[in-house]
Amino acid sequence: MAARIARGMADTWKRYIFHFANDHFDFKLAELKAIARTVGCQIQIDETKYDKESPFLEVGLRSDEDGKRLMQRATLGRSLYELMAEGRTLPELCADLNKLPDAKKTVAADSTFRFQIEGFNKRLPQASKVDRIEALLQCLPKFQGKINLKAPDHSFHLLEYYGHEGSKSPDQPYWLYFGRWIADGQRDKIRQFHLQKRHFIGNTSMDAGLSLIMANMGQVDKNQIVFDPFVGTGSLLVACAHHGAYVMGTDIDYMLIHAKARPSRHNQKRRDKDESIRANLRQYGMESRYLDVLVADASRHDLWRNMPLFDAIITDPPYGIREASLKIGAEKPADAFIPEDCRDNHHPQSVKYRLSDSFCDLLNFAARFLKLNGRLVYWLPVFRPQYSEANVPRHRCLQLVSNCEQILNTTISRRLVTMEKTAEWQAEEDSRGATVEVDHYGDKSFRERYFKANRTIAKEMEASGSS
Ligand SMILES: C[S@@+](CC[C@H](N)C(=O)[O-])C[C@H]1O[C@@H](n2cnc3c(N)ncnc32)[C@H](O)[C@@H]1O
Repeated sequence: MAARIARGMADTWKRYIFHFANDHFDFKLAELKAIARTVGCQIQIDETKYDKESPFLEVGLRSDEDGKRLMQRATLGRSLYELMAEGRTLPELCADLNKLPDAKKTVAADSTFRFQIEGFNKRLPQASKVDRIEALLQCLPKFQGKINLKAPDHSFHLLEYYGHEGSKSPDQPYWLYFGRWIADGQRDKIRQFHLQKRHFIGNTSMDAGLSLIMANMGQVDKNQIVFDPFVGTGSLLVACAHHGAYVMGTDIDYMLIHAKARPSRHNQKRRDKDESIRANLRQYGMESRYLDVLVADASRHDLWRNMPLFDAIITDPPYGIREASLKIGAEKPADAFIPEDCRDNHHPQSVKYRLSDSFCDLLNFAARFLKLNGRLVYWLPVFRPQYSEANVPRHRCLQLVSNCEQILNTTISRRLVTMEKTAEWQAEEDSRGATVEVDHYGDKSFRERYFKANRTIAKEMEASGSS
């Protein structure tokens, strides 16, 4: 059952219904809370009744304006309604509607309105929608305006909940909500920034929806400086620039960020001359937000001036599956010495970058270079059978805000970890300090385990006859 707010909430709170997209269940609440903080709006949520698989969530907000500001950033929020009435059945809902003061259920004769009836986890035939509209009109005698289906002044929605998607839907809904539409979320931005239409992409470009969610988790906002140390093709920069931030990044792969690596689109033989992260930002009219990208090793922090520089660090570190996970270094210490006369044209050697080291470095980097209250948002790949929250990397200066799972298969998932810098970094706690513990992978590489898990799943599918 969707979470509900007690009727007895203070007068200044108004009741609203969030209608979420049926996508990324684990991220919905975390995104909503992050947005509320970014836009500075108070929100009341009864988390004890929160059901992440339900698309509906009852919340308390101070005003419609606050709701509109929330929806201007919501990636996972489809629509927001002012909750007028609810119930287990239509008569129960109508009785609830009767309790509303007339002013709340009036449509003046000179304005227009429409009803929309929607079932979740059940398709409602047109005839039953018409029956419901007639029943609603019976208890709304002060709806005197004309009906306008295309562009009404007011839109009223009856939302019927028939259980989680894919569950057997009952004959009668579990719950009904009736509300006045306030605003839609930003689902259209997922289409606008879709990778299919993006000028420069690569094998590991992050999809538009998740990039936008990450920017929200990071509370990215106008005129901030946002950094991605593993920038790749810059998908996360696109989402952050969309929210008005100035963006920059580093990547160790010269060929990739100079768009000289093999194209990843199957119908493309050669890369276009002007493919670049800057061109991506130009494509969306956001070039003025582009600071730069550097070919650099994210494990080397001395590149940066020793002061907090970034408002947010939003990144997708390499897992070593589809991209190189390397850092500058030499297997033998003697090879690390570069004679003076060779330094100018020296091409550094690289060594394998252990996953646990890359997370260690990332947290140390964030602790040092994030501004106070700035956020670090990154993906952590995990083996589900062995995962526990203790595996999430920690740092004294960074407080865990949220940790949301995207399941990739039965054994592997990645978790979107959001941390906030809550304490100033002290020089003596530099990089290899004991405050970061990452011990989920041991000596085996994630790559080894990933492919082993995939082979096991493939064998199981073969044995069960599925393709
Ligand atoms: C998962 S990809 C990031 C993809 C990126 N979010 C995008 O949308 O294209 C990880 C990136 O980290 C880079 N990388 C690997 N090791 C690195 C290092 N030591 N320093 C900086 N970048 C590194 C890889 O070249 C790769 O582009």
